Amino acid sequence: MTEPFTAPQRLPAWAALSAHARRLDGRPLLGFFVDDPARAERLSLNFANPVESRQSALVADFSKQHFDDAAFADLIQLAREAQLDEGIRRLFAGEAVNFTEGRAAAHMAMRDGCPLPDKREAGGAGAMRAFAFALREGKLAGSGGKPIRRLVNIGIGGSDLGPRLATEALAGLQADGGSPAVDFVANIDPRDLDTALARAEAASTLFIISSKSFGTAETLANAEAARQWLREKLGGNADIGAHFAAVSNAVEAAAAFGIRSERVFPLPEWVGGRYSVWSAIGLPVLAAIGGAFDEFLAGGQAMDEHFRSAPFERNLPVWMGLAGLWNTDFLAIESLAALPYAHGLRSFPAWLQQLEMESNGKRTLRDGSRSKVATAPVVWGGTGTVGQHAFHQLLYQGSRRVALDFIVPVGGNDPRQRALVDNALAQAAALMTGRDLAAARAALARRELPASEIERLAPHLVCTGNQPSTTLLLPRLDAFYLGALLALYEHKVFVQGWIWGINPFDQYGVELGKEMARALAAGQTGGQDASTARLAALAERFRQQTS
Ligand code: F6P
Repeated sequence: MTEPFTAPQRLPAWAALSAHARRLDGRPLLGFFVDDPARAERLSLNFANPVESRQSALVADFSKQHFDDAAFADLIQLAREAQLDEGIRRLFAGEAVNFTEGRAAAHMAMRDGCPLPDKREAGGAGAMRAFAFALREGKLAGSGGKPIRRLVNIGIGGSDLGPRLATEALAGLQADGGSPAVDFVANIDPRDLDTALARAEAASTLFIISSKSFGTAETLANAEAARQWLREKLGGNADIGAHFAAVSNAVEAAAAFGIRSERVFPLPEWVGGRYSVWSAIGLPVLAAIGGAFDEFLAGGQAMDEHFRSAPFERNLPVWMGLAGLWNTDFLAIESLAALPYAHGLRSFPAWLQQLEMESNGKRTLRDGSRSKVATAPVVWGGTGTVGQHAFHQLLYQGSRRVALDFIVPVGGNDPRQRALVDNALAQAAALMTGRDLAAARAALARRELPASEIERLAPHLVCTGNQPSTTLLLPRLDAFYLGALLALYEHKVFVQGWIWGINPFDQYGVELGKEMARALAAGQTGGQDASTARLAALAERFRQQTS
């Protein structure tokens, strides 16, 4: 039974928004600020850590987005007409918003942001905590009695990207004497595991096999390779089990692999992989940062509370979702660049890629029909200022518009840190303002070039500008604000999925490629297209030559 559902383009607000898009087309973004000194403040929202002064808050500035108040009001109206309030209610009530698989998406319960949909599945958080703290206190020993001092997390997708991001972001800030070194291994390419093993001493290393399904080919192959390595290094009689733990929903499969049952930390079925860093999948993060993990959860939980209770007019995930939807569907902008200005957030674009593209990279709607409007953008990006010396050129002078999210933790007074933040703000401004022909000529004239040279070069200096952006200014990068940031994007994705009418919580698409890979691995010939069959045969020949 499919639920009755109105596709968004049939809602009255959609037509109004199309009219706004036509009206605003060609109007320079900078023009919105003329005679409207209050725009920046009006189109910004604050989100504070409740235990801090409100002076110190995350500030989300949407004023460089290409809409005016009237368009923005109709975006809010669209959310109302799409009954987003009912969607939020269902999400937090633990109803089956994952409607294809018939289950809740209650990752918020892992941070106390909503009740547990099923109390029998609390997720074994207590046991996982005890294990992580024993490790931090040096009470967890390898087979030869040496304390465990290094973790290697073997997992992929959601079992890698979230914990990797959180560890990179916070381990440097929160590490203390108890913190083990942590490596993340995702790829089935042997070099990934080999690189981590080259740094490791077997006697003091623990592998966390992190896989919700415990059926992911890459993870299982790397887990097996890790076991072989331990046997070689520690000898056949060593207690290899002392060097493994697992996080999985498939507790029996993990046990069948040989992991001791008391070291298999479950995560509930209703926590999706890409939403799972808050659950036992966060084990390496907890081990690395200890008590600060609670602050991380508190940040996520505060965002849940805000999302659930703030009116749409002041609701940050709602604004994020609507701004993105406006760019995708009304300005026909096809990609979103995530630009964190923080080395600690270097894995943020990859994490966001999975979150947005695996969640909303779909076109089948709740009623089984096909979406007539564009859904998830292509998400990409990289850290500033590094990207400024590489791909920002296309943002300045390329042929397409790109939506930009600047994520800017301010931090302390180190001159390089100040420069980092100045650069972020300058990029957002320059990419909005651009440089027209007259300004290009003026810039060249200041170089005292001959008039003919000025005319020849000026068109090449023109920057179109008008790249719309949102800036998230964080007081600093800490566990609370990281938690809030990740939960903000999770809820943004929910807002968009709900309005588009797609299910953000399944991922049937990726199964197709897995099936094909299994067929190739099994040497099944036939049924493949001529190109693939030929390439597979060539690969086989190269293998013979190499070995
Ligand atoms: O193939 C996609 C996917 O299922 C993701 O959704 C998931 O995060 C990843 O693989 C890893 O899955 P698992 O944790 O079950 O190994």
